[in-house]
Amino acid sequence: MSGKIISIANSKGGVGKTTTCVSLAEAFAAEGRRTLVVDLDMQANASMIVFGRGGDERLYEAIASHKTVTDYLDENFFGERMMRLSEFVTPRASDVTHTGRTLDISLVACSPGLRRTERSLIYELTSQGFSMHAIEGRVGNRLTADLEHLRKEFDIILCDCPPGISAMTETVLAASDLLIVPTIPDFMSTLGLDLFIGDVLPQLNRDSGDGLPYVLATRFTNSAHQRIVLNAMAEGAEGGDTDYAMLSTIIPATPDFAVNPIELGHAPTLAQKWPGEALGTLDALHKELVELLK
Ligand SMILES: Nc1ncnc2c1ncn2[C@@H]1O[C@H](COP(=O)(O)OP(=O)(O)OP(=O)(O)O)[C@@H](O)[C@H]1O
Ligand SMILES: [Mg+2]
Repeated sequence: MSGKIISIANSKGGVGKTTTCVSLAEAFAAEGRRTLVVDLDMQANASMIVFGRGGDERLYEAIASHKTVTDYLDENFFGERMMRLSEFVTPRASDVTHTGRTLDISLVACSPGLRRTERSLIYELTSQGFSMHAIEGRVGNRLTADLEHLRKEFDIILCDCPPGISAMTETVLAASDLLIVPTIPDFMSTLGLDLFIGDVLPQLNRDSGDGLPYVLATRFTNSAHQRIVLNAMAEGAEGGDTDYAMLSTIIPATPDFAVNPIELGHAPTLAQKWPGEALGTLDALHKELVELLK
């Protein structure tokens, strides 16, 4: 069976995209699915959180051995030969254990160099006479083909998108079977949600999944203001011509979701990584997504 691509995206920053992406990767892997995380954000937060305790060194290793998304772009657009995204995968990336076994999570890491490479790519190709549209097309076609290829190797491919929307992000969103949009139910975040769902998404050619983005309420404090906004978001999802659906799991604001892998020690269990109420919430979200992917 062909693997499923799940993207976690929102043009708004700090809403819990990376936390959602990595925690879900661990939940899917704990269930026995071959899981890949693709980190598309030059902040490399997902890479660090997947790598866990030795995150710094392991990310450095991936960068030094040219195994990042940045190298993927470099090789394909400035290098001598075409290389598939699968050639940039770090296997056995996670140190988290479940029922005595290390989770089978692979990672395409990212690096801070991505920003410079993306800029160089635009300068280089525009100086060769390519339009922005043509450049996006070239990057998009290449990445789309490689994602299709990866579906054969993995059951679940989770893409952590950066807050800004790049050509790579647009391609990944268009190729996704499921698009999750983490959103804090507060005034500022709903402005961001309107922008992302009303403006960014309609411009993409999404041809897979049911097309609807699934909004995930995150960092919920249960304040009066957040409750009002959450209700309004849920009502918005239920209206006649809705352009998004709402997941019923709500992620509470709790330090249990704000992991620091360095404090966890060697080979933490899933329950240690997501302590307290976090594991139960993660389990509910995971179950909901399994149903949606059927
Ligand atoms: N449910 C939560 N409760 C409390 N803190 C959280 C929760 N989820 C995430 N955080 C913390 O909030 C911050 C932002 O989370 P995260 O990095 O996942 O967001 P993001 O959307 O990926 O950010 P960016 O846009 O910068 O990529 C982090 O410090 C994280 O540890
Ligand atoms: Mg992030």
